[in-house]
Amino acid sequence: MSYEDRGSGPAVLFLHAFPLSRTMWNRTAEQIAAIARSITMDARGFGESDPAGETLQMESIAEDAAALLDELRIQSVVVCGLSMGGYAAMAFARRFPTRLHGLILSDTRADADTEPARLARYDLIAKIEREGVRALEQAMVGRLLGTTTQRENPELVGWARHAILRVSPEAAIAALRGLAARRDQTDLIVSLDIPILFACGEEDAITPPDEMRALQSRVPRSRFVRIARAGHLANLESPDMFRDAIVDFLGLLNHQRR
Ligand code: MLT
Repeated sequence: MSYEDRGSGPAVLFLHAFPLSRTMWNRTAEQIAAIARSITMDARGFGESDPAGETLQMESIAEDAAALLDELRIQSVVVCGLSMGGYAAMAFARRFPTRLHGLILSDTRADADTEPARLARYDLIAKIEREGVRALEQAMVGRLLGTTTQRENPELVGWARHAILRVSPEAAIAALRGLAARRDQTDLIVSLDIPILFACGEEDAITPPDEMRALQSRVPRSRFVRIARAGHLANLESPDMFRDAIVDFLGLLNHQRR
């Protein structure tokens, strides 16, 4: 596993979106390191981590995360996951409930894929097999970023494009299989007795804010923040608003612990 460990204090573990790597969290993790220990890790096959097998299950990301925490001698954490990172964070919550004292779910959903969504993933796998990761870049860049970013932030659009083109076809395919196979976590999320922050870019077309808000309204100890001028990659598109949401949430957690 490749990871980065910044700052000190209560630990926050950041899990990245598909098909990116831990670098998507660099700025957020640096900002949060001023008040907490911020750990970012690459899922198998992404960034500098070792390759995954045939399928990258969300549960394997959760198990790798727990093994990393063991290595770092960290018993309990707040896990912050965006999109695929959110699915993995929910898998972590199911598998290691006693290690979690707060959860940040950004631009993600608790439901499993619908049948059409699953079929679309298999179509994309076939396209990647034929055309390579360029097919992934073409399918995803426009969906990952909000209209505001696409209009006003060509640098971030270029960054996302290059980040996707660096992914190996094998890693993309393994993750798409794992995303298609993931379980519905709704029953778990609505019953978790820990503070949960839901955050979602207001222009997110992949996991729309109204859908996340509807889930959040069923979760007792939770709050929802709509991230302005952001699409699916909310922390990259509106970094300061995203940081403020996390800082407020961590402040609340510390207050509750005292
Ligand atoms: C992600 O950003 O991790 C993916 O869009 C997740 C998904 O396709 O469900």
